[in-house]
Amino acid sequence: MTIKLPKIIGHRGACGYAPENTIESVQTAADMDVEWVELDVKLTKDDIPIIFHDDTLERTTNGSGLVAETLYEDIQQLEAGSWYADSFAGVKIPTLEEMCEVLVDLNLGLNLEIKPCPGREKETAEVALDHLSRIWDDHERLIISSFSHVSLETAQDMAGGWYRGLLIEGEMPENWKDMADYLDLSIVSIDGNTCTREAIESISDMEYAVLARKVSDSQRARQLYSWGVDAISTDVPDVIKETILTVH
Ligand code: G3P
Ligand code: MG
Repeated sequence: MTIKLPKIIGHRGACGYAPENTIESVQTAADMDVEWVELDVKLTKDDIPIIFHDDTLERTTNGSGLVAETLYEDIQQLEAGSWYADSFAGVKIPTLEEMCEVLVDLNLGLNLEIKPCPGREKETAEVALDHLSRIWDDHERLIISSFSHVSLETAQDMAGGWYRGLLIEGEMPENWKDMADYLDLSIVSIDGNTCTREAIESISDMEYAVLARKVSDSQRARQLYSWGVDAISTDVPDVIKETILTVH
């Protein structure tokens, strides 16, 4: 299945400018005219899908402990903005549903990364897709991504027609083509800072869309686009946007 990706995807919203994975971060991305955002979803102890990156609460909230051992009613009390800047004090951790409402209002596409806490690979995909199937209509503007093959397999079983993306860290594994074929992917996502032209071309040759992550440098972005990358996921969408405006 061929997907039409935007040139730029805001990573965790626009997390270079606002606390990651929050409504404020997504609003910041929209203010920069970003068309899609990438966000992470995982489950609370009581299986509520929330938009959150880490397995633990310490780095980005005033709480502590494991997300997988914390009830949603306690997650809801946490503050997730001050760690980033005092101006974001009071910002909350959104649920998947709350976030999707905002995305629809802002007319943003979504690359949703299934980010399971260890051991919850299947159920995280199951719950997230179950919620999404009720609240997300535009499947031309939704990707289900993951590093977890189990999460992607679950997504394939539950919603075979939705676009799926495999996240690859570091070098391309030798068997990546078999994995991509088995998981019936549309997108392969690689580290934009370390990937080679050969890797990009080998993905494109298989007719998968290439999504390069972690790119904040405009020179590198220009090089990646010239090598055939379809989309760049970035913390700083405004910087990469300048690249596009000056390419041609
Ligand atoms: O686009 C996927 C990317 O976000 C994966 O890495 O750690 O930022 O979730 P991470
Ligand atoms: Mg992510």
